[in-house]
Amino acid sequence: MEERKYIHGYTEEEQNRLIDQGAVLAEFVFDRLDFSSTRQLLEVGSGVGAQTSILLHRYPNLNVTGLEIEPKQIEKANTFLSGFEELSNRYRFIQGNAADESIEMPLSFDAALFIWVLEHVAEPIQVLRNVQRFVNQGGKVFAVEVFHSSLHLYPDCPNAMEYWRKGIDYQRSIHGDADIGQRMGNLFIDTGYKDVKKQVYPMHFGKENRKQRAKMLIYWHGLMKSAYENMLDAGFTSPELWTMAEQEMLDLQKNDDAVFYYSFVTIEASVPENTSN
Ligand SMILES: C[S@@+](CC[C@H](N)C(=O)[O-])C[C@H]1O[C@@H](n2cnc3c(N)ncnc32)[C@H](O)[C@@H]1O
Repeated sequence: MEERKYIHGYTEEEQNRLIDQGAVLAEFVFDRLDFSSTRQLLEVGSGVGAQTSILLHRYPNLNVTGLEIEPKQIEKANTFLSGFEELSNRYRFIQGNAADESIEMPLSFDAALFIWVLEHVAEPIQVLRNVQRFVNQGGKVFAVEVFHSSLHLYPDCPNAMEYWRKGIDYQRSIHGDADIGQRMGNLFIDTGYKDVKKQVYPMHFGKENRKQRAKMLIYWHGLMKSAYENMLDAGFTSPELWTMAEQEMLDLQKNDDAVFYYSFVTIEASVPENTSN
């Protein structure tokens, strides 16, 4: 069997980046999600528990079960969440592949959530179908996913953009899709979900919002860097390209004319009433 590859890897530095990422993006990601009437949530691809912690803090009546393929992530998630005594007994993590049709869950859920996960999955159709088994009929499934080709930087950053496009190519070569956001609606419809609602969330910051612009440019530099070692090993970048790309990203942070644009995609859909769960 081909070895499973993950663009960001599972180093401690990357695990900590995921925790920071959760905090930096929370105001955008959770702006259009509401779990106030959800009691049991399945968080698919729960990583190191970065979103789990935010969810549990935001919704005091919520319980979260994380389904995660990588044992190292689960270990880190348990360590991270054990730092919040007030959250104890409201979460658990299960190791498994969300595409695995033989996997069983200890309970059925009111809702399921994917955040930055389907972009890394080789078989998103299989995963979306499989997750229907775990959610009550009529229950909601939410996905928040990337659309990397939507990135625009001003002034022009040719090396940063070339590096970014090579990252998209690299992710495709390991069977992911960094542009999955653009076809998320189709994927949910093709897998039988009902009431599929898509929202594109633009983040467009210039002088009118210097604070958010600075936050995004700093975060994006880290996001680009997180793929560097794996891209280098696979021949998708060179130290020279990264050095020039990084310099452009650092220069943008100091340029008051800079403009940042990126949009991600959120889907809300219902599990059909006639599934066999
Ligand atoms: C970019 S991380 C996002 C983690 C978390 N959702 C967050 O936003 O912090 C993607 C996670 O999905 C996990 N993953 C990838 N494919 C998976 C699969 N088929 N089943 C379960 N988890 C998977 C990866 O191991 C990784 O921890």
